[in-house]
Amino acid sequence: MSSIQTLFRYTVSNFFVFAGNLLQYPFSRPARHRLSQSYDALIYPFSGDRSVELSEILQHDDLQITVAPLKARQHNTTEFELISVAGIIKDNKCNTVFEIGTFDGRTTRAIAMNLSGGEGKVYTLNLPPESDTVSLQTGHIDVELATKVVSGERFLNTPQEKLIQQVWGDSAKFDFTPYAGKMDAVFIDGAHSEEYAASDTKNALQLIKPEGGVILWHDAHLFGVKHFFKKWLKQHNYPVYFIRRTTLAVMGMKNGQPYDILKK
Ligand SMILES: C[S@@+](CC[C@H](N)C(=O)[O-])C[C@H]1O[C@@H](n2cnc3c(N)ncnc32)[C@H](O)[C@@H]1O
Repeated sequence: MSSIQTLFRYTVSNFFVFAGNLLQYPFSRPARHRLSQSYDALIYPFSGDRSVELSEILQHDDLQITVAPLKARQHNTTEFELISVAGIIKDNKCNTVFEIGTFDGRTTRAIAMNLSGGEGKVYTLNLPPESDTVSLQTGHIDVELATKVVSGERFLNTPQEKLIQQVWGDSAKFDFTPYAGKMDAVFIDGAHSEEYAASDTKNALQLIKPEGGVILWHDAHLFGVKHFFKKWLKQHNYPVYFIRRTTLAVMGMKNGQPYDILKK
């Protein structure tokens, strides 16, 4: 569908439904729900027909997860995003995961808590603390975050530490070859420029096992990542889904090719 059609379908038409709801049930829950969907579609038109509830992505009705620590700090995933990432990891029976962008290690730990059978490995890559420059263009905050906290401090000295391996480097220069074709999932949340989103995604595509796995992006609607998605999806029309009320995007991969996780 062209972007103009998508914009029309998910903004203008949604707006009329919203307005109708608002007139009939002022400030009702359905009206607010419509408003939030219209707003989402208005600001993220490229995700209009790919926006899904977390429950549409999960396959197991009886899925149970554990996450800790739940409370988010600035620059972390939100509480619902943490639950979504952990849920997708557990639902897909992942036990080897690569994360780009460790920060304080809160999401790393939640991923480790939900590895299939309670075992496996989470590799988490961050710029080394001494970094003051990176190889591709990005905002200064991406580099400054490397020194804002002790990388991985929220998994250090926890029972999950043994399941986690911290690796260091600039994701645009890091040698991913030892990990290629070995991952069940990749979580991309490093530098947020369009150039880095493109480079990290290109590497993630190589990391997933041929038997299948998932790629997750954080901040998919924000910063340079959204510009990356607008262009990349226009070019490839890959089956990427955007999880409502989060900034997460998710795509399945099998035999080195993207596949539609909703058509399992
Ligand atoms: C937004 S934080 C990650 C948050 C974390 N995933 C969470 O859920 O709490 C981004 C992290 O990526 C790191 N980073 C930024 N640019 C990077 C790069 N080029 N290579 C590797 N890590 C990078 C930053 O140092 C920072 O720790």
